Amino acid sequence: MVNSVKMVLGIVLLSAMAGCTSDPKSGWGFTLPEGDAERGKATFVELKCNACHTVAGVELDPVHSEEVGTVVLGGKKGYVVTYGELVTSIINPSHRFAFGYESEQIKDGEVSKMRLYNDEMTVTQLADLVTFLQQHYEVEIYVPTPFVPYY
Ligand code: HEC
Repeated sequence: MVNSVKMVLGIVLLSAMAGCTSDPKSGWGFTLPEGDAERGKATFVELKCNACHTVAGVELDPVHSEEVGTVVLGGKKGYVVTYGELVTSIINPSHRFAFGYESEQIKDGEVSKMRLYNDEMTVTQLADLVTFLQQHYEVEIYVPTPFVPYY
C-alpha cells in the first residue's frame, strides 16, 4: 500500500519535472558559472552601467546619462532576485521592465532604454556582474500587521 502511494507520488513528481523541460525555451537546466564580485564591480564601471544605474550601498562615480534617469539596482525586495532574472535583465532588457518607474523614463515604446551589450560583453563579465549585483539585493520578508481585536 505504502509502496503504491510512493509510486504514484513518483509518477506525479516525474511528470511535473518533465513538464518543466517540455518547453524547449524553458530556462530549466540553466546554470551560470560562479562569478567574481570584485571584478564585477570593476566591469560595472568599465561598461558604464553607472551611466544609468546606482547600486544600493555601493559608492560609484556617477557618469551622467543625458536621456535616462537613474534606475536603482540592489536594495530590499520582497522576493529573492535570482541570477536568472538578473541575466535576463542584462542580455534581454525588454523581456520585462523594472517596476516602479514612469514608462517614459525607462522605455521607448515597448523597447527598454537600456543599451544592449550582447555583442561586446564576455560570459565572464556577465557572470561577474551578476555575482556583484546579487550581493546587494536583500530579501525583506513581508510581516503582516498583527491582528488586534477591536472591542
Ligand atoms: C543607457 C542606460 C542604461 C545603461 C548604460 C545600462 N542600463 Fe540597465 N537598465 C536601464 C533601464 C532604463 C532599465 C529599466 C528598464 C528595463 O527593465 O529594461 C534597466 C534595467 C536593468 C536591470 C533590471 C532592473 C530591475 O529592477 O528590473 C538590470 C539588472 C540592469 N539594468 C543591469 C545593467 C548592467 C549590468 C549594465 C551594464 C552592463 C546596465 N544595466 C547598463 C538603463 C541602462
